[in-house]
Amino acid sequence: AGDTLISVKLMQWYDRHARTLPWRVPPGSTQAPDPYRIWLAEVMLQQTTVAAVQAYFQRFTTRWPTVQALAAAHDEDVMAEWAGLGYYARARNLLKCARAVAEMGGFPRTRTDLQSLPGIGPYTSAAIAAIAFEQPETVLDGNVERVMARLFDEHTPLPQAKPILTAYAARLTPQHRPGDHAQAVMDLGATICTPRNPACGICPVMADCAARRAGTAPSLPRKTRK
Ligand code: ADE
Repeated sequence: AGDTLISVKLMQWYDRHARTLPWRVPPGSTQAPDPYRIWLAEVMLQQTTVAAVQAYFQRFTTRWPTVQALAAAHDEDVMAEWAGLGYYARARNLLKCARAVAEMGGFPRTRTDLQSLPGIGPYTSAAIAAIAFEQPETVLDGNVERVMARLFDEHTPLPQAKPILTAYAARLTPQHRPGDHAQAVMDLGATICTPRNPACGICPVMADCAARRAGTAPSLPRKTRK
């Protein structure tokens, strides 16, 4: 019941404070999210910040508004639009994936089927399944790991903590609105539960946070020295 209460508070916070992002459908909207836009954004966001991705996302979706359009693009044009985002293997996989999806007649809806596509790994498959298709999949990125380590005051260092933090994140994932839940945790991590100087005083789940009680929030998650 404690976990449900935490997810309810997170959702209420997201309904009021969700960031407005070009690939996002505002909470409460009756509009369905476009799997193509969700996929494109998540691939761009794999190694690049939200701030840097936005302009690229706008240019890509203006030039290639559908996965069919992107599938028909010339490789050189896509590589040129990608220039500056880095990790060029991502752009090559992007095109391979667009062509496979166009061939299939659309994006598959399950995490397992999504993961068989080029450039779609555990993170991206979960994000697309949850955000585009409302599947109750657990999305784990760096922001989510930090939020979980703090909520549950988990001191095991990364990377060993990963399965533990995944289990905490799975416990919090609701059956209803799993996509908004995933984005709520990401937004909390990006705007309040930040690596340095977390804004615990305005956190919607401050009362539920074990690290806040223990005074350990700023030092979590721990990491083993490389
Ligand atoms: N980072 C990666 N995916 C994101 C999303 N859908 N919303 C906000 N930040 C993100």
